[in-house]
Amino acid sequence: MEVRVVELFCGAGGMSLGLKRAGFEIVQAYDFWDKAVEVYRKNLGGPAWQADLKDIFRIGPMVAALAPDMICGGPPCQDFSAAGERIEGERAAMTKAFAMLVCVARPRWFLMENVPRASNSKAWADARAMLVRSGYGLTESKLNASFYGVPQTRKRLFVIGRLGEQDEFLASALAAARTSQPMTIRSMLAQMHPDDETLARVGAFFTRPFYTGRGVRTLDESAPSVIRTTREVPRPHYLARPHPDDPVPASGAATLTQGQVARIQGFPTDWEWANVGSRAVDQMIANAVPPPLAEAIGNVILAREGGKTIPEIQGRFGLWLGETRGFSKAAVRNAKSRVNRARRLLGGKTFSDGALELAAIESVEGFMKLPTATRSDLRKSLRLYREWWAEPTNRRARPSEKVAAVEALAA
Ligand SMILES: C[S@@+](CC[C@H](N)C(=O)[O-])C[C@H]1O[C@@H](n2cnc3c(N)ncnc32)[C@H](O)[C@@H]1O
Repeated sequence: MEVRVVELFCGAGGMSLGLKRAGFEIVQAYDFWDKAVEVYRKNLGGPAWQADLKDIFRIGPMVAALAPDMICGGPPCQDFSAAGERIEGERAAMTKAFAMLVCVARPRWFLMENVPRASNSKAWADARAMLVRSGYGLTESKLNASFYGVPQTRKRLFVIGRLGEQDEFLASALAAARTSQPMTIRSMLAQMHPDDETLARVGAFFTRPFYTGRGVRTLDESAPSVIRTTREVPRPHYLARPHPDDPVPASGAATLTQGQVARIQGFPTDWEWANVGSRAVDQMIANAVPPPLAEAIGNVILAREGGKTIPEIQGRFGLWLGETRGFSKAAVRNAKSRVNRARRLLGGKTFSDGALELAAIESVEGFMKLPTATRSDLRKSLRLYREWWAEPTNRRARPSEKVAAVEALAA
């Protein structure tokens, strides 16, 4: 079944490309930047419209009329990205516009991308409240792109919502989609291009550092998060006071070409940047969700939509059963496997409301064919899991937090 998507704040189309590759159908995309819309159309075809999404009276009914299955988008992040005291202005308000458009159209799914710092913003708190009130269960995961197919330690917040779900319903599936090792620049160079010769020979590259960060890295590392000025040559003050951990002097390191930076963001080499000017291209590349990362997230969403995955049970559920209910190890194993069995019967869906979950399983044909005693055991295990989940302190080590911890170590 086609999952029809509307993308808001589509930029040049990084997220759309990844989702399309995963199998989604993009029915409409919006951005107010003419150059981004031009590049989007050139590569992804017709559905990009130039429109200011601030105008939700105009856009809301249009999006609702399209009846998408999913709305995705990366609202502008500059108000969250800046250092020091952040004033949340019109660009932060676009996060609320995103949420309002989702609430108006009410697709089954939404996918929002932003910088990790957005999670502490007032704009996201307001947007979140609207989405929860509209009935979305939320998975809020901070993902490191280098574990999802691009040689770049780009960390971004992804919020995935699905109507009626329990929070964190997709976190374990996102964690399971990670590669075991971060991707390095050397692995990107396995597919050599004509402008890679210097980079491969020199074996180290310079990228404009963030604040007092490191500028030089070897090919056996990932690049840092791509920004508009990533491929700048080292400035005199950096050459005079290099970072102590630079593996070679910045003057001897290769600087990256625009084509290489685009590949570090996961764009294919035949992507056409139109004739929009070099600075605009640098900006679009930096703005993008790396297509392989969007594809990986898209695959995770489609697998759940198709009932092919179920959320992982947390280890502490077993501990809780032992401590509060006196369950033996064998009884804990049984209870867990029954929860998993019930969830498979429910096609991986979790429910914000326990009564709805029990009602839903009663209408599943496979469940009704089970012996009475087995059905009763499955119901009991679902109730126990629900009871455990209801106490927030029981859920302290959520999968998304485990991922964040692993990524912090890998960074
Ligand atoms: C982070 S970028 C999105 C990049 C995109 N997700 C991708 O993968 O290529 C944010 C986009 O929002 C657009 N934008 C900002 N404010 C807007 C508004 N009021 N209406 C429409 N688009 C807007 C910008 O032009 C920019 O392309």
